[in-house]
Order: sequence, then C-alpha cells, then structure tokens
Amino acid sequence: MVGFKALCFGLFCILFASHIYTPIPDNIEESWKVMVLVAGAKTCTFLALFLENIGIMRFEEFFSMIIVLDYTQPLSDEYITVTDTTFIDIPVRLYLPKQKSETPRRAVIYMHGGGFCLGSFKQTAYDFLNRWTANRLDAVVVAVDYRLAPQYHFPVQLEDGITAVKFFLQDKILKKYGVDPSRICVSGDSSGGTLTAAVIQEMQNDPDTKHKIKIQALLYPALQVIDSCLPSHLENENGLLLTRDIAIKLVSLYFTKDEALPPAIRRNQHMPLESRHLFKFVNWSTLLPEKYRKDYVYTEPILGRPNYSLPGLMDNRALPLLANDSQLRNLPSTYILTCEYDIFRDDGFMYVTRLRNAGVPVAHDHVEDGFHAALSYMTSPFYLHLGLRIRDMYISWLDKNL
Ligand SMILES: *[C@@H]1O[C@H](CO)[C@@H](O)[C@H](O)[C@H]1NC(C)=O
Ligand SMILES: *[C@@H]1O[C@H](CO)[C@@H](O)[C@H](O)[C@H]1NC(C)=O
Ligand SMILES: *[C@@H]1O[C@H](CO)[C@@H](O)[C@H](O)[C@H]1NC(C)=O
Repeated sequence: MVGFKALCFGLFCILFASHIYTPIPDNIEESWKVMVLVAGAKTCTFLALFLENIGIMRFEEFFSMIIVLDYTQPLSDEYITVTDTTFIDIPVRLYLPKQKSETPRRAVIYMHGGGFCLGSFKQTAYDFLNRWTANRLDAVVVAVDYRLAPQYHFPVQLEDGITAVKFFLQDKILKKYGVDPSRICVSGDSSGGTLTAAVIQEMQNDPDTKHKIKIQALLYPALQVIDSCLPSHLENENGLLLTRDIAIKLVSLYFTKDEALPPAIRRNQHMPLESRHLFKFVNWSTLLPEKYRKDYVYTEPILGRPNYSLPGLMDNRALPLLANDSQLRNLPSTYILTCEYDIFRDDGFMYVTRLRNAGVPVAHDHVEDGFHAALSYMTSPFYLHLGLRIRDMYISWLDKNL
C-alpha cells in the first residue's frame, strides 16, 4: 500500500514537472504562483482525461472527487449567521447579518460556476466570497446549488435557479429575512453567469413576477455556443485554467451525453440548418469592439444536418446571447466582468454591445491581466491578488448600485 501511494505521488510529480513550463503572458502578476497553480490544474486535467479514456471514471467524476475535498460547513461567525437549508427542494446556503437593522436589507442571490457539471456553494472560495458580500454590503446572501450535468441536462439547471429565486421573492420569505424587494441582485461566475443571465431574462419578461430583480452581475460568463471560433477562442485555445477543448466538453454535457457533439463544436459545424437566423446575434464582426477584432476574418459557422436533435442549442434560455432585442429591452442594469485571457471574453463583450444597443445600462470591467476562474483562487493556500481584485471590482459595483 505504501509502495502504491509512493508510486502515485511519484507519477503526480512527474506529470506536474512536465506541465510547469506552461508559458504565462508577461502582464500576469505573481507569475510563478500562477505557473504552479496552472501546472496543478493541467496535471489534474491530464489525469482526468487519462482515467476517462481507460474507462475507470468520467472526466467530471474525477474533478468532483477533488472538489468535494474543498467543501466547507456552514460556519457562523461574529457578524453573520450561516445556515444550509432548502428552497422547496433546492439546496441553498444563507448568510444573514446578525446586527439588527432598522430598514429592510439588500440581497444577493449567487450562482456558482463549474461548467454546469461541477461545483457547489460549499467550495471554500464561494463560501468566502458570499460571506464577504454579506459583510461588506450588510446584505442577505443566498447561494444556490442547482442540479448538475451530465446527470441532468438543460433546462434542469435553469429551472432550479428560477425555482430558488421565485421562492425567495415571495413576500413572506422576504419579510422573514428582512429583505427589501426593490433591492435584490442575482450574480454568478462562468456557467453561473450563464444561468444568471438566463434566469433574469426569464423573470423580467414574465408578467407574473411581481418583484423585479434590480440588477444582475455576470462574472466572466459563457453566453453562446453557436460560434466556437471567436477571436477569444482562437487566442485562448490553450487557456491557463480552461482550454477550448475542456470548455467544449463541459458545455456539451449541459445539453447531451452524445459524443458526436463536442467534435462538431470543435469544427464549428454543430448548428442545424434552421438556426441561421440566430447568427446575427453572435456576429463578432459587428458586435466586438474594433480592438478585439484585430485582423481576424469573419467566417460563418457551417450549417449542417446533425445527427442529434438539440433544440437547446437554439434556445436563449440556454444561451442568453440568442435573445432578440425585444427580449433584452426589459433587462435590469447589468455588470459584466471579462478577462483578457479567457475563451469567453468575447461572449461578455458581445453581450455588453447587445444590451447597450437595446438600451440597457451596462457597467463593464475588462481585466487586462485576468484569466478565467481566477475567483477560485481567493483563499490560502491558493491565493492570488487577481482573485481579490476581481472580487473588489464586483463588490464595489454592487455596493454603489444595489
Ligand atoms: C456578419 O457581419 C458581417 C459584417 O461585418 C456581414 O458581412 C455578415 O453578413 C454578417 N453575417 C451574419 C450571419 O449576420
Ligand atoms: C451519429 O452519431 C453516432 C453516435 O452518436 C455516431 O456513431 C455516428 O458516426 C454519427 N453519424 C454521423 C453521420 O455523424
Ligand atoms: C423575440 O422573441 C420572442 C420570443 O421568442 C418572440 O415572441 C418575439 O416575436 C420576438 N420579437 C422579435 C422582434 O423578433
């Protein structure tokens, strides 16, 4: 047994060493730390793919095993009462400020990232962020765990998000937690940003929603899959913590386990013939700022008659950039944060343009030295200034606008 463990450790070290020289862009701070974190992530990815290929476990099962080690208990502190409970059957973690308040409080509902397949509000970084939000804003924070792919596909994740938000918006629940219905935000990062944008589109356009959400915050969100050859996809194909292949793998699992989908997306030949009218909503040659178009030449994704039938690929409830202008018009004031080194950078940029064209107020922070998933690195021992800077930009916008 000791010999086996030593062998595993030795293998890990060899893999780690072989990944340590990943090139890091010059403007990224704490480059040696980033290099170590990236080598760790790439080693785990390599192992997960290896185990999947030899049939021992699926890619996302390996990562789930690692992420579970990082789960936290709901620990109250001097200022905040933290409890895990459910809204109907959706698990949530509540952060309630302890001090009595004369007036009802603001509230933030948070959707975690993880490519629709991974993650939980229990992870250290999310627990840290949500506690911080409650403290800094003196706000009630609700962190939501939706059901994950590939066990559940679209629209289950979205429906769970909507169920949790609607439950919270009931008068008796708002009263119970002392929340001001006119000062509620929904936020999320990465795939949690996708879900946030979709939940907001659904709820703002639903005439039966009495209390409208005041603002939304999307942190490096993914917002479309129609076009898998945006400039940001090409530039970040071998992204630091998220490569194009892995992003395509996880996004595909949101829709289906059909193994025909990921290779089709990689070739940008996954959309059915009847989807062409949607291409204008993600046409980067009109929606990206000049600076990011560079010398790239726009080519339309190739239409085909795919083997699978996936209406979700054409559904704005899955991919918020596919909403038309009249569906965008009613959206609340929006914060979008994008990172330079992120395959989803251009999704964020295009949503900024589309929302502004539809007359929605948008605040946009672009982090020139940022990369995808940096918010996962805010607590020791894996702590980066970048994660804290992103947190502070997000919190300061919330504080001014909520
Ligand atoms: C995309 O925009 C370009 C102009 O920049 C235009 O020539 C092309 O027809 C557009 N394609 C679609 C599908 O909207
Ligand atoms: C259709 O999908 C199946 C399995 O998903 C695959 O084996 C087959 O090669 C696909 N056919 C085409 C034409 O893509
Ligand atoms: C926008 O989409 C909605 C929902 O699909 C549809 O009812 C509406 O007619 C569309 N509006 C325009 C201007 O295309």
